[in-house]
Amino acid sequence: MGNDREILNEIPKHVAIIMDGNGRWAKQRGMPRIMGHQKGVDTIREIVRTASDQGVRYLTLYAFSKENWNRPKDEVGFLMNLLSQYLDLEIKELRKNRVRFNVIGRIEDLPGQIQEKIRKTVEDTKNEPGLLLTLALSYSSRVEMIDAIKKLCEKVVRNELNYSEINEDCVSRALYTANLPDPDLLIRTSGEMRVSNFLLWQISYAEIYVSPKFWPDFTKEDFLEALKDYQRRERRFGRTERCKSV
Ligand code: IPE
Ligand code: IPE
Ligand code: MG
Repeated sequence: MGNDREILNEIPKHVAIIMDGNGRWAKQRGMPRIMGHQKGVDTIREIVRTASDQGVRYLTLYAFSKENWNRPKDEVGFLMNLLSQYLDLEIKELRKNRVRFNVIGRIEDLPGQIQEKIRKTVEDTKNEPGLLLTLALSYSSRVEMIDAIKKLCEKVVRNELNYSEINEDCVSRALYTANLPDPDLLIRTSGEMRVSNFLLWQISYAEIYVSPKFWPDFTKEDFLEALKDYQRRERRFGRTERCKSV
């Protein structure tokens, strides 16, 4: 944890971010979309550091959706190269911030070389005591749910689970996010009011914050503003104000 902790109230334990607007950021400057992705990596670095300094325990970043494979081949290729570079270069910075690295999604869809780098980064940071950084890669919440349903069905078929015992806890534990608490705060940049197939089960009671800024323009101050906004919310979980802590 750093020295510049600026917020003293309740810090969300888990922040999830839909990092959107890289393409528009570049277009606005007359540059190719890929330049926005490149610049977006700097924002990732700054936000990981800030979240870590503020004492956020879990940060989950939507980096590449399953649907993003349908983008032009050269853009997908560029994003894969960028991911590969990130995994090569960022390890030092992650360890400096005591960050543990994790991924969710259909990792088997990624090029073999990247899968290997992911495995190595997870291994090299596994004992870091700080923030757990999770990148969602080739991620689709619906596919995640289908995978979870299959897992549970298998258990039922093998008589390891009685179907009548399936409850919310079982489902949560069958998802890719089994080892993460549900997000408290979901941030989306670039003004879009949608969730784009991200953590649909897990965000049931997350507070949603949409920033008008494109991801490459999103700063430490913007992140702190999102945390402050979160702290002004009253989370009820379906209860009334009086019984909220029961
Ligand atoms: C988010 O920025 C990054 C990824 C989805 C990989 P976009 O590439 O979606 O940028 P916009 O939304 O087109 O501006
Ligand atoms: C969501 O952004 C996926 C990521 C941030 C990786 P998109 O730009 O792909 O989503 P849509 O197309 O606006 O819904
Ligand atoms: Mg987008």
